[in-house]
Amino acid sequence: MDTYIVGNWKMNQSLEEVKFFFNELKNEVPQNGFHTWIAPQTLHLQMAKELAPSFIEIGAQNCSQFPNGAFTGETSLTSLGEMGVSFTLVGHSERRTLFNESLATISEKTAAALEAGLKVILCVGENLKQREEEETLSVVQQQISFLKDLGFHKNLLIAYEPVWAIGTGRTASSEQAQEVHKFIREFLTLIWSEDKSKMTPILYGGSVKPDNITELMSQNDINGALVGGASLKANQFKQLYQLKREN
Ligand code: PGA
Repeated sequence: MDTYIVGNWKMNQSLEEVKFFFNELKNEVPQNGFHTWIAPQTLHLQMAKELAPSFIEIGAQNCSQFPNGAFTGETSLTSLGEMGVSFTLVGHSERRTLFNESLATISEKTAAALEAGLKVILCVGENLKQREEEETLSVVQQQISFLKDLGFHKNLLIAYEPVWAIGTGRTASSEQAQEVHKFIREFLTLIWSEDKSKMTPILYGGSVKPDNITELMSQNDINGALVGGASLKANQFKQLYQLKREN
């Protein structure tokens, strides 16, 4: 399967920094089999679309579950589509915890964004307390169980991001990550089919850096990385998508 390197800039980067970042990448030659995606702030999507080299796809960090209407402050899927934005994150742990996004909302957003023609990275993962209480697999299963009713979709990707590893510098070991990725793969096989499960990219996120990405990507069921901090500087981001895969 191809490898996906996705930068999640969160609420970071000034206009000048966005310009500088893409200028630094303008002469890059992407590797075959690598997909390089960036999700800037909503306000920077238009500019990022204009400035990004053609091998980089631009996406949103969040979207409304409603196409348009009386939803003050929301980001319309229709408008994202009109702008040529190609993907959106859904259910990032910061959305779940800081903005109280429920499982129901996340499942609605996933369905609506796929329906609108966007690719969706559905983010899942346990917090530290849940890991310590050995609830990781049941929490993740609960977060992806709606996919049974949703059905397989070729535009759906999943990102496993243990909350305790996000922005903390404390990454999951490759074994810890692989265990959960394998579990997700098996769950998808159960609810869809083995073929469909194998066609669904499962990304890892949580303190991915140039010095730990090769090890993580060498695991069977890890098909890419969702990267926050290390995606902000062009020289670090380049090192992530230039990695050599061993499998
Ligand atoms: P991090 O963020 O790489 O800074 O840990 C990952 C994410 O939140 O997607």
